Amino acid sequence: MTTHPAQPPRSRLDPEPISRRDFLGQAAWWTALSVLGFATLGILRLPKAAVLSSPSKKFRVKLPDSLAPGQPFIPPGRSVAVYRDAEGIYAVSLRCTHLGCIVKSSPDGFECPCHGSQFAPDGTVRKGPAPVRLPWHKVTFSGDQLVVDEGETVPPGTKVSA
Ligand code: FES
Repeated sequence: MTTHPAQPPRSRLDPEPISRRDFLGQAAWWTALSVLGFATLGILRLPKAAVLSSPSKKFRVKLPDSLAPGQPFIPPGRSVAVYRDAEGIYAVSLRCTHLGCIVKSSPDGFECPCHGSQFAPDGTVRKGPAPVRLPWHKVTFSGDQLVVDEGETVPPGTKVSA
């Protein structure tokens, strides 16, 4: 005959004993809630969609009064050069026709910093690898304000009279 050691008397302040099954059940619930909480935090910290509205392709331009004939005016933040000469006003795209880099103004036109294409001020190719000339963009007047539409091209030589 075996005898169990005597249990010490329980105090009223001692917590209720918990069965092994209940303990494991509670542990599983707390683990699941923790995982759900961390997953929610992770989702909230994910980067937000980086979809920015692009600036309108149509924009108003105020040409400087001092703009000399044949001198390009490049509106800030735009990839277009606007010219004024005796025949009118026109806009030449600054997006290289090779792979799309933005060309830089040079003493005799434009030069592409990416692969060295060179263009005349009217956009004609002087040196490749650009396959074709820089396109011209539509220029119109809205009231007394000049409007350039980077989303629309016109045949080279199309000028709007001032
Ligand atoms: S992108 Fe301009 S030369 Fe290649």
